[in-house]
Amino acid sequence: RGGGKRYSTCSSHGFSMPLFTFFSLCLHLSIAAAAGNPPLPLNSTQESIMRDLSRYVGSAGWNTTVSNPCLWRGIGCSPSDSTSFSVVTDIDLSGCSMSNPTLFASLCSLDTLQSLDLSKNYFSDLTGHFSRCPMSAGLRVLNFSSNRLAGRLGDLSGFSRLEVLDLSFNSFTGTVTTQLSVMPRLRSLNLSSNHLVGVVPVSMASSLEELVLSGSFFSDSIPSILFSHSDLTLLDLSQNNITGDLRASFWKLPKLRTLILSGNKPTGAIPASLSNVTTLTRFAANQNNFTGSIPSGITKHVKMLDLSYNGLSGEIPSDLLGPAGLEAVEC
Ligand SMILES: *[C@@H]1O[C@H](CO)[C@@H](O)[C@H](O)[C@H]1NC(C)=O
Ligand SMILES: *[C@@H]1O[C@H](CO)[C@@H](O)[C@H](O)[C@H]1NC(C)=O
Ligand SMILES: *[C@@H]1O[C@H](CO)[C@@H](O)[C@H](O)[C@H]1NC(C)=O
Ligand SMILES: *[C@@H]1O[C@H](CO)[C@@H](O)[C@H](O)[C@H]1NC(C)=O
Ligand SMILES: *[C@@H]1O[C@H](CO)[C@@H](O)[C@H](O)[C@H]1NC(C)=O
Ligand SMILES: *[C@@H]1O[C@H](CO)[C@@H](O)[C@H](O)[C@H]1NC(C)=O
Ligand SMILES: *[C@@H]1O[C@H](CO)[C@@H](O)[C@H](O)[C@H]1NC(C)=O
Repeated sequence: RGGGKRYSTCSSHGFSMPLFTFFSLCLHLSIAAAAGNPPLPLNSTQESIMRDLSRYVGSAGWNTTVSNPCLWRGIGCSPSDSTSFSVVTDIDLSGCSMSNPTLFASLCSLDTLQSLDLSKNYFSDLTGHFSRCPMSAGLRVLNFSSNRLAGRLGDLSGFSRLEVLDLSFNSFTGTVTTQLSVMPRLRSLNLSSNHLVGVVPVSMASSLEELVLSGSFFSDSIPSILFSHSDLTLLDLSQNNITGDLRASFWKLPKLRTLILSGNKPTGAIPASLSNVTTLTRFAANQNNFTGSIPSGITKHVKMLDLSYNGLSGEIPSDLLGPAGLEAVEC
């Protein structure tokens, strides 16, 4: 539980995620099948926490005349293990124009919470609000995308169960080094569109599947340890300041489906070893100033290829446009 996307409280993005549509349709149908039975009343401690939280949620927010907070928009509940009460597992307060961090005093007591979406708000400083916070220890999904968070990426050690972390579109600065090593279950990390500097971080758990670091100031060459994250399916390093020879070991990522390297400053040639990543369907390396020729076999598996705006030369390999199922090629 805690995975299905429900209607958010303040902005509606219920239909913007086609991947989830079928899944959430099933979820809604199964809820509808159980309808008729009103939802279990919320655990009384949590009910008063929720009523306290409602003071922070703007006028577009919760209808507090509805007695069970589990029925408020953006709230997900599950039956608690041993009682006839339910507990809160999901809170989606995306786009609620919130900025007052004192709400964390209440939120932190919701120790059953698994997914928290506070994206598209105006939080700017969370320093201290997550220390000694019982809620953070159980959280699996945390979304702070599009806020005004600034300063260095702080201590995340309270979030030891986190699987999905989205801190994109903020103003974080500084380097990212060991801060990420404290989340052993991390599957998806998005730090895109910040002002981060230094080497591409590598301290993430080996379970990592999606890494999005686009639109910052990461520099130097890609550390070879990154290629030990062999579960990676998505790697987006676009629009950074990455240099060095990229003829690196992409073939060590046997599940890689999407590789976006656009808008960097690598030296040398397009990595030929990409042609033996059999899972790779999308490769973008436009605006990179790559030199040399297009390696043959590059479209053997890739269906969408963008190599435009580089310094490539030589002949176009005869097999480039050969493979069936090719969707887009720009060179
Ligand atoms: C309500 O839930 C909390 C956990 O958030 C738990 O400690 C408490 O015992 C529960 N109370 C009741 C009455 O079930
Ligand atoms: C809030 O809930 C009450 C009780 O279900 C309902 O009568 C009322 O129309 C709702 N208000 C809004 C603005 O949805
Ligand atoms: C976080 O929220 C933003 C904005 O609502 C959304 O676009 C993004 O997909 C969310 N991130 C994750 C990992 O679900
Ligand atoms: C950040 O990246 C994750 C992983 O790919 C993705 O699910 C999420 O939607 C992205 N967030 C935004 C705001 O695009
Ligand atoms: C980008 O890299 C170049 C060359 O390595 C360096 O001179 C420049 O300062 C870097 N820019 C930023 C914003 O890090
Ligand atoms: C893929 O290609 C690289 C270099 O072209 C080579 O070193 C590697 O052994 C190949 N891997 C497989 C699994 O074929
Ligand atoms: C691209 O490479 C050429 C030759 O190596 C170099 O002269 C030029 O400055 C580079 N352009 C950029 C934008 O780095």
